Amino acid sequence: MSNARRVAVLAGDAIGPEVMAEAVKVFDVVQRHRDVEFELIEAPFGAGAYFDHGKAFPDETKAICDSADAILKGPVGLSHEESSKIPVEEQPERGAILPLRARYNTYANFRPIFLPAHMAHFSPLKSEVIRDGIDIMLIRELVGGLYFGEKSRGVNSEGLRYVNEVLTYDETQIRQVLVTAFETARGRKGVLHNIHKSNVLMSSVFWNEVLNEVRVDYTDVEVRHMLVDAAATALCLNPGQFDVMVMENMFGDILSDQAGGLLGSLGLMPSACIGPEKAYYEPSHGSAPDIAGQGIANPYSMIGSVALMLEMSFGMPDEAEAVWKAMQSVFEDGFSTTDLASHGGVENVSTVEFGEKVVAKLESLLA
Ligand code: NAD
Ligand code: IPM
Ligand code: MN
Repeated sequence: MSNARRVAVLAGDAIGPEVMAEAVKVFDVVQRHRDVEFELIEAPFGAGAYFDHGKAFPDETKAICDSADAILKGPVGLSHEESSKIPVEEQPERGAILPLRARYNTYANFRPIFLPAHMAHFSPLKSEVIRDGIDIMLIRELVGGLYFGEKSRGVNSEGLRYVNEVLTYDETQIRQVLVTAFETARGRKGVLHNIHKSNVLMSSVFWNEVLNEVRVDYTDVEVRHMLVDAAATALCLNPGQFDVMVMENMFGDILSDQAGGLLGSLGLMPSACIGPEKAYYEPSHGSAPDIAGQGIANPYSMIGSVALMLEMSFGMPDEAEAVWKAMQSVFEDGFSTTDLASHGGVENVSTVEFGEKVVAKLESLLA
């Protein structure tokens, strides 16, 4: 088997290219120290792609992604004002991200919420709440629900404008993500928090029905049910009670950004979007137009997404571990980007300086 790996690199918008430039440095270090070669193929994607090529997800990019072994995607999107200059259907969230997810059926979105003890001071939570850190794997269903349902607008018989947005799942879509969640829970502490809203939503009643069918094969995993609104509070009051959490698309979108708040910044939220044949990797955060161009974005989520790729797509868990260690060592040495510095009284570094420190540490770990 050849040791070449093709990676499609979609840098994205605003801070996207800034954090991507640091993330791709990791490939270079790994290939110099290991028997693997990464072929990185850059392709336009997002608002920039729309302005340059007329499409947020151009055909040329689709072909590159189709031929890649894995896809690394930076955040896309513009400020609310800038975004409104693009037709609604080509705005990059609808015109690029959702079609990317649909194209590769990336139904399982892993969003690790991880804050080791030595980084616990970055969290806005009190130390007696956070204790020795946070370690949760949030699994978000990524290709169903409201985000992918039929949408229509119109005027009703009373002359009032209305909107219809359909929340739809078939049983396969629910089963596949639940199987992933049970497998993940089995490989960790054997506890799965199922987050839902079955006291109101029929979609959650159905979700739980499918869960009861799936759990028959996982009697070693304890299932704990929690309503999504209560889960939002529980995450703040006692995050240590969670290990693996699974939930439908929109619940996962919202709770994972809340989790970024628990860690101290969305800059600490990498993610993996896994489908049956292809996976893509992206930070959970957006393109942060408010800080773009200043060289201060935290590249941890983007670099962490490379670590997830090494582990989940390329079977390189030791190298992935080295990337995590390298990133955490930067914090241990007392440095951080400005998003976290305000919580910890540490020394500020720029995006590039952070990336360079990661590379230097990684060199020594892989040597
Ligand atoms: P955002 O996640 O871009 O930013 C929210 C806040 O977090 C901002 O204050 C930002 O400065 C900060 N932040 C985010 N990432 C950071 C990082 N790496 N380092 C330091 N600070 C960071 O959310 P938003 O402002 O609501 O959205 C901006 C745009 O991004 C919108 O167009 C939105 O649709 C898009 N978006 C894209 C993705 C994606 O590409 N997957 C995800 C979420 C939002
Ligand atoms: C995320 C983002 C996306 C989502 C948007 C930008 C389409 O918020 O990845 O969390 O809602 O899934
Ligand atoms: Mn989101």
